[in-house]
Amino acid sequence: MQEQLKQLQTEALEKVEQAQDLKALNDIRVAYLGKKGPITEVLRGMGKLSAEERPVMGALANEVREAIATAISTKQEHLEQVAVEEKLSKETIDVTLPGRPVKVGNHHPITAVVEEIEDLFLGMGYQIAEGPEVETDYFNFEALNLPKGHPARDMQDSFYITEELLLRTHTSPVQARTMQEHKGQGPVKIICPGKVYRRDSDDATHSHQFTQIEGLVVDESISMSDLKGTLEVFAKKMFGEEREIRLRPSFFPFTEPSVEVDVSCFSCGGKGCNVCKKTGWIEILGAGMVHPNVLEMAGFDSKKYSGFAFGMGPERIAMLKYGIDDIRHFYTDDVRFLKQFKRA
Ligand code: PHE
Repeated sequence: MQEQLKQLQTEALEKVEQAQDLKALNDIRVAYLGKKGPITEVLRGMGKLSAEERPVMGALANEVREAIATAISTKQEHLEQVAVEEKLSKETIDVTLPGRPVKVGNHHPITAVVEEIEDLFLGMGYQIAEGPEVETDYFNFEALNLPKGHPARDMQDSFYITEELLLRTHTSPVQARTMQEHKGQGPVKIICPGKVYRRDSDDATHSHQFTQIEGLVVDESISMSDLKGTLEVFAKKMFGEEREIRLRPSFFPFTEPSVEVDVSCFSCGGKGCNVCKKTGWIEILGAGMVHPNVLEMAGFDSKKYSGFAFGMGPERIAMLKYGIDDIRHFYTDDVRFLKQFKRA
């Protein structure tokens, strides 16, 4: 029986030694130390032994059991440790792996140009004013000195919705609205960015919908030199410090006198090139002194107050600034085009 126990111990320890995983180890535990295992069997058979033999065999059996149990728990710790290490090594993060780039959007070039112009005028004390895109005939035309039947209405082919409602053809109605809100009290100093609509056939330089920014200053003793100085600051900030501007006589029903404003060519510096069509100058906007009729219709005393107004197209400015040859690029939303205009 002693031999048998010794034999069991050797056998069990060998198996423990060879166990590859926790499951195998548990099987060994059940097989040798379990209720149906050989050691329990030996202990059960102790009743048949003599009184002298019994304690000797009991002690031996316990010794064997202890030895196997200790071997199992040592092996178990070892296997658990190995398992943890294996898991850790499987889950390591390779910090040298290049990251996946996150795609970040950017402003639409028109939004960027509008915001740049807004910032510039906000810095000069202007406020931003907005008005509806569906406008009344009154504010779009009549309040701007363009009564019904006036031939100059043809300068701006319109989308009419009803006899009295249309999609605004310019941002100038916001001038008339804002002046009216001021109830004859100056000063007024606003810029009005927004969408406008004209019944044009779309091509490289025309679009039935585009953007305008209107500027209006009304106060006592505002003169043409204020207009010129303001637009000079604008042109230099937008197109470079060396730029100059020039005013050419023009016509708008709501301004008198009216001017077209040119900026010296930023491509050739004024010598003459393809961008300026060899003239050295590029037209950038329309402007003038607010017509006394417009002031009076909006409730301002034209003897006391005078003002200047200007209107420009951010599309045109962006096309000039970035050398874009087709206005339709702004509206077809090709990301390859749009993502070139990331601002710093
Ligand atoms: N509203 C004019 C246009 O769309 C531009 C303009 C605005 C001209 C203000 C003079 C003064 O053509």
